[in-house]
Amino acid sequence: MTEHSKAQMKAATPYEQKQLQRFNVEWQVVPPMPREVLFDLNTHCNHRCFFCSNHRIAERIFMDKDLMLRLMRECREFGVTDIGLYATGEPFLRRDLAEIVRFAKDFGFSYIFITTNGALATPARAKEVIDAGIHSIKFSINAGNRESYRMVHGKDDFDKVIRHLRWCHQYRTANKVDVKLYVSMVPTHVTGGQWEQLLALVGDCVDGSSLRHCSNQGGNMLENNQTETIDSKNLLGSLPAGLAQGGRCPDPFYRVVITPEGYLTNCVVDYQNALCVADLRTTTLKDAWGNEHARRLRTAHLEGKLEGLICDCCLTNTGAPFKPIRPELARPSRKPPRRIIEMNKRCEEATASYGKRPS
Ligand SMILES: C[S@@+](CC[C@H](N)C(=O)[O-])C[C@H]1O[C@@H](n2cnc3c(N)ncnc32)[C@H](O)[C@@H]1O
Ligand code: SF4
Repeated sequence: MTEHSKAQMKAATPYEQKQLQRFNVEWQVVPPMPREVLFDLNTHCNHRCFFCSNHRIAERIFMDKDLMLRLMRECREFGVTDIGLYATGEPFLRRDLAEIVRFAKDFGFSYIFITTNGALATPARAKEVIDAGIHSIKFSINAGNRESYRMVHGKDDFDKVIRHLRWCHQYRTANKVDVKLYVSMVPTHVTGGQWEQLLALVGDCVDGSSLRHCSNQGGNMLENNQTETIDSKNLLGSLPAGLAQGGRCPDPFYRVVITPEGYLTNCVVDYQNALCVADLRTTTLKDAWGNEHARRLRTAHLEGKLEGLICDCCLTNTGAPFKPIRPELARPSRKPPRRIIEMNKRCEEATASYGKRPS
């Protein structure tokens, strides 16, 4: 039995199962349509985590609802069963999130999930989304106390987020609703040792928890190397130890990610739209999945010839030069806001005095 299948048997929660499924892919130039799709409902975020590239996205774009419905229908026709309603943006910034969850439910997706910073998941909003039939909500809480949270997220929302998560737990218990709750943290030099602090506060109300290593976000946040130790064998920082694999990325083979513009991209952290292969406003999902650009990208991964693609920056953790696969679909990038520049400065100082997180 491989390490992968042993770990898969041990994985208790749907969240853990999903993490492990990522390497259970068919490494083909045109693999079968995947089971999972991510709809990135909007580009922007209400927080400014210092290790996240979201602040670079210049335009605020919401996915068009008609397009969303057409693509959900196509996904179901092609056998997609799992739908995540996020990728690079914050899903609760969509006022109509509950309505979108209901659409997904009506189309018959069997697993509907989100990841959120939780600051806008007030009892009223969370209730709507839970009642609409979401299967799981993961709260990303990247610190174990209020002060560090403010430094990392750029917002003083720690107490509020903890309250929101605890409320979801009380609501599901009181109403016997089958929604799974998870928590994750990206530990950094600011928050060393705070995972236990966080679990002491919310461990009793979640079904699973994951400590994700800080990544370079698909080559978009190489400056994270200034203060963090990026484990180059752990793609995107989210794979359990022992399963980490360098060399080739499963994402172009494993799932569909749809940007707020309506483009098919091959990476969950494609902040610059550098891996967009098709405009789904003018083509079908099926044609896009096997088009010449998608085939070229997968061939590059299969042959290990990633020069000129952002994947090279991600997998080698270096600033190698790259071009977007389809420059006409790429996003203009914005300079970091003042807070992030200040944060980076503070990070540099902290690194000088404390050193990096040990690898
Ligand atoms: C980009 S966020 C988007 C959804 C939502 N705003 C949130 O924070 O959950 C998705 C996930 O990526 C994680 N993330 C962001 N930057 C990361 C990095 N540099 N390394 C590893 N994970 C990161 C976040 O903590 C979060 O769990
Ligand atoms: S990790 Fe999530 S909450 Fe933090 S800035 Fe990025 S998108 Fe926003």
